[in-house]
Amino acid sequence: MEHPLVAAALALPLPIQIAGLVVGIPLLAIVVNVLRQILVPTDPTAPPVVFHYIPWFGSAAYYGMDPYKFMFECRDKYGDVFTFILLGRRMTVALGPKGNNLSLGGKVSHVSAEDAYTHLTTPVFGKGVVYDCPNDMLMQQKKFIKHGLTTEALQSYAELMPAECQEYFAKELKLSKQNPGPKTVDVLHMMAQLIVLTASRTLQGKEIRDNLSVRFAKLLEDLDKGFTPLNMMFPNLPLPSYRRRDAAQKEMSDFYMSIMAKRRTGEHDHENDMIQALQGSVYRNGTPLTDRDVAHMMIALLMAGQHTSSATSSWFLLHLAHDQDIQQRLYQEQVDNFGNPDGTFRPMTFEDTKKLPIMDSCIRETLRLHAPIHSILRKVLQPIVVPQSLAAPSENVSYVIPKGHIIVAAPGVSQMDPKIWEKAGSWNPLRWLVDGGIAKTANEQYQAGEKVDYGFGAVSKGTESPYQPFGAGRHRCVGEQFAYLQLTLVIGEIVRNFKLTAAQKAIPETNYQTMIVLPLDPKINLEARV
Ligand code: HEM
Repeated sequence: MEHPLVAAALALPLPIQIAGLVVGIPLLAIVVNVLRQILVPTDPTAPPVVFHYIPWFGSAAYYGMDPYKFMFECRDKYGDVFTFILLGRRMTVALGPKGNNLSLGGKVSHVSAEDAYTHLTTPVFGKGVVYDCPNDMLMQQKKFIKHGLTTEALQSYAELMPAECQEYFAKELKLSKQNPGPKTVDVLHMMAQLIVLTASRTLQGKEIRDNLSVRFAKLLEDLDKGFTPLNMMFPNLPLPSYRRRDAAQKEMSDFYMSIMAKRRTGEHDHENDMIQALQGSVYRNGTPLTDRDVAHMMIALLMAGQHTSSATSSWFLLHLAHDQDIQQRLYQEQVDNFGNPDGTFRPMTFEDTKKLPIMDSCIRETLRLHAPIHSILRKVLQPIVVPQSLAAPSENVSYVIPKGHIIVAAPGVSQMDPKIWEKAGSWNPLRWLVDGGIAKTANEQYQAGEKVDYGFGAVSKGTESPYQPFGAGRHRCVGEQFAYLQLTLVIGEIVRNFKLTAAQKAIPETNYQTMIVLPLDPKINLEARV
């Protein structure tokens, strides 16, 4: 005998029955999910789970729209360690310097960057390198890169970058003493171009620079479009952007291979670029890097530096346009150190770039407030016991982050934490200056402390610092020195030549829909200094 309710439902017309199922099943799933979170007792060692209505989808919308707002609010509710659901994945966030240490300072046997990132990065970089090889090989690849960034190489880069900027100013901005402007520019677009021009002229090699305006730019764009949060969540979808990503990866990789083949025949015209440094590198076990490996590492370096540095420099210029006092100090620093009596400037050397306190503190402060990477991920390979001093359900019980979770470090949270920084939300480069020098606050802790060699040279462990824009531990950035050089030279060149003013009422909102924390539709006015 059918239940009267079922019988009544079956008596309804078919379209109404279907509509009932379409609405009813998800509704039922939501109700069950909510009741389960409220009524079912949880394992006391499991970190608290962020309340969410929709199963599987979890907190995806909330986290995706504004990860920092999400994390600060969750910290208030749940403490420094909590789990949230992101499209079926269990993400456990560990906040604060101690939380950062848990993942960034974690042992390779406990946490894996490869397992967290490979599905996003391998289709873009290519196989055999970075997160598509054992961790020990990545550490050696980082050593090869560090060896490529010699003082001699960096000195030569300092000579090459300003000319690229000057050419861009003349050809693209078309501003000069005779035609000073002002002109409103999309600062992110401008910086993306200046960063790729200067990186390709130096680190990437002359052949890449020479091809930048033609096919290479299109390939880079297609690769970029394959490096999005969508790709992070769904590595392979039958979409045109995925197919273009794969085609661009192959063509770009082949292009680097052809450069190396040509160079072998003696047909080369390169300076101290990274291709030259990597070619001929040999792993500890005697295996040489193949040309294909080098090609894929070059793509990885291009992707690693492009958006991080263009985002940082864009935020930096936006703040300068809104802060005339700091802009004047920065300009004056250039005049005091490099100004000629006739109003021109002498070029900066690599050594000069390290002695500019105002520039340095502006970069630091921009990276504090706008760390380009908001979430650093690792897959948990073995259960991790959370120290009681970080977060605990009670005095005698500790949280345990289970195997299979993704552990999330968000250094940006400690970098913007009002409990650590005075006026944490304001851009104030002067906070880094003490008596005209560089402050010895968070930075000192960051630079000093225990030194560890993870396989790419001794670095400060720094995993418990509240300031980690370049990460920490074994996956710490090896491009920091290059990034500082590039930012100092490019911004220096802009400040020498232009006066910046605000084109918008306030600093733009942040766009979190991309992998890198970018300003949304950012504009500034540029006027040539006469
Ligand atoms: C790693 C930030 C520029 C190459 C990292 C990490 C961060 C970072 C946070 C750690 C990622 C993790 O732990 O999962 C930045 C910022 C930059 C910048 C803020 C500029 C402002 C560059 C440049 C290069 C580069 C210019 C290359 C020349 C790398 C490499 C790694 C790395 C090879 C190592 C990845 C690993 O070991 O897993 N960077 N980066 N970065 N970065 Fe950078």
